[in-house]
Amino acid sequence: MKADINKNFFATQIGSILATAGSAVGLGNIWRFPTVTGQNGGAEFILIYLFFNVFLGVTCMMTEFIVGRNGASNPLRAYIKAGNNKSWGIMGILAILCGSLILSFYSVVAGWCVYYLYLAITGGVLGSFDHIQSTFSALIGEKDIYICCAISVFFVIITHVIVVQGVQKGIERAAKYMVPMLILLLIALGVASSSLPGAWRGLEFLFKPDFSKVTMHTFYEAMSMAFFSLSLGTACLVTYASYFRKDANIGKFALQISIIDVVVAILAGITIFPAAFSVGVEPDAGPSLIFLTIPNVFTQAFSPTAGYYLSILFYFLLVLAALTSTISMHEIGTSLLSQEMKTSRTVAGTLVTIFCCIMGTLCALSFSHPNIGVMGSTLFDNLDSVTSKVFMPIGAFATCMLVGWVMSRKTVMRQLTSNNRYAWSRPTLRTFFFLVKFVCPILIGIIFVVNIFFTN
Ligand code: TRP
Repeated sequence: MKADINKNFFATQIGSILATAGSAVGLGNIWRFPTVTGQNGGAEFILIYLFFNVFLGVTCMMTEFIVGRNGASNPLRAYIKAGNNKSWGIMGILAILCGSLILSFYSVVAGWCVYYLYLAITGGVLGSFDHIQSTFSALIGEKDIYICCAISVFFVIITHVIVVQGVQKGIERAAKYMVPMLILLLIALGVASSSLPGAWRGLEFLFKPDFSKVTMHTFYEAMSMAFFSLSLGTACLVTYASYFRKDANIGKFALQISIIDVVVAILAGITIFPAAFSVGVEPDAGPSLIFLTIPNVFTQAFSPTAGYYLSILFYFLLVLAALTSTISMHEIGTSLLSQEMKTSRTVAGTLVTIFCCIMGTLCALSFSHPNIGVMGSTLFDNLDSVTSKVFMPIGAFATCMLVGWVMSRKTVMRQLTSNNRYAWSRPTLRTFFFLVKFVCPILIGIIFVVNIFFTN
């Protein structure tokens, strides 16, 4: 089997970093991170999250980059080439399935962001708390559920339109504009929010740890958050790494992306918590935090005009962040199917889009029709759980095993040093292999077991 069939590359180094950072930075950072931080105590959770992001995250990211660039092809072939055995191809199949399933439920939340952007523009998110609450309940209740389905589908289609334009013209170009814009917007919002009266309580919540509240659950949440946030375990990064240039420094890339990811998450925290504390909203409000409380925060904390513009900025930012992430999920399937079925990106992308539109619609419907789903949960929750509890840990574990134990040291070193372009000191290399061979698989194994057997 000829493996190097990629004709696609990111044109520039900065484009590669921004595209990959765009995949990492998403609703995970701006929606999920503040939610989980709020529920797990604040500063101490952030410190533990930082630890996992740096040690587990950067190392696992590098293993995916190694497999991806070595394969110079879609994940199916990349895994087969790295493992030198056809059975590793199963990882490619899991990847396309997992990427498409994540895209299906993620597009529902992304759809809410589009709807809220529309509401922000028309002034519909500002108002009494009852009004804000009834808007959100209607969106996921029977009444407006068809709007919810339609915008999820709409979001998948926008993603499709960008992805089928190709790696440079579609993915890289979109990321080059969107990621810097997103960071600038977040800084502006963060400054506005932390200059509110009483904002210091939010900053204290974010930066003053209290380790007496840490439990095993805090560790598990921090690890899962690092996984999801860095797009690990679904071969998304394998796919993107196959577009890296031969001289890209994999270690440096991984570190830079992890730093961007953490900075964005903390900026999101700085935007949300000071404003929430300033108006007396509890930080542990849960998944609805940004849809229920943020409009309320904007209404109460700022003047009506500032609230109006800031809410538009905020939801626009969420849409951008979601889009750079959905692009990366869609790309896994598009690249794999177009290469394996020897068809154009448009045809392959259409297949992925059709699948995700159907699954996305079912996920959205499952809010008002809870019988769509198994084991007493909605399909939305089922897909969220099965991908984050099963697929992602398996993907990350297998990739660490592959790089640490199966691939030849020479091949791994060729990727790590980009063909002897970059030197690695002995202690750094030793640490890297120790993390890949032992620490990461063991930690991931623990999350996997704890997740499956000890949480519901
Ligand atoms: N990392 C993204 C976020 O934080 C989500 C994401 C994008 C993702 N691509 C992925 C998650 C692939 C898992 C796998 O929102």
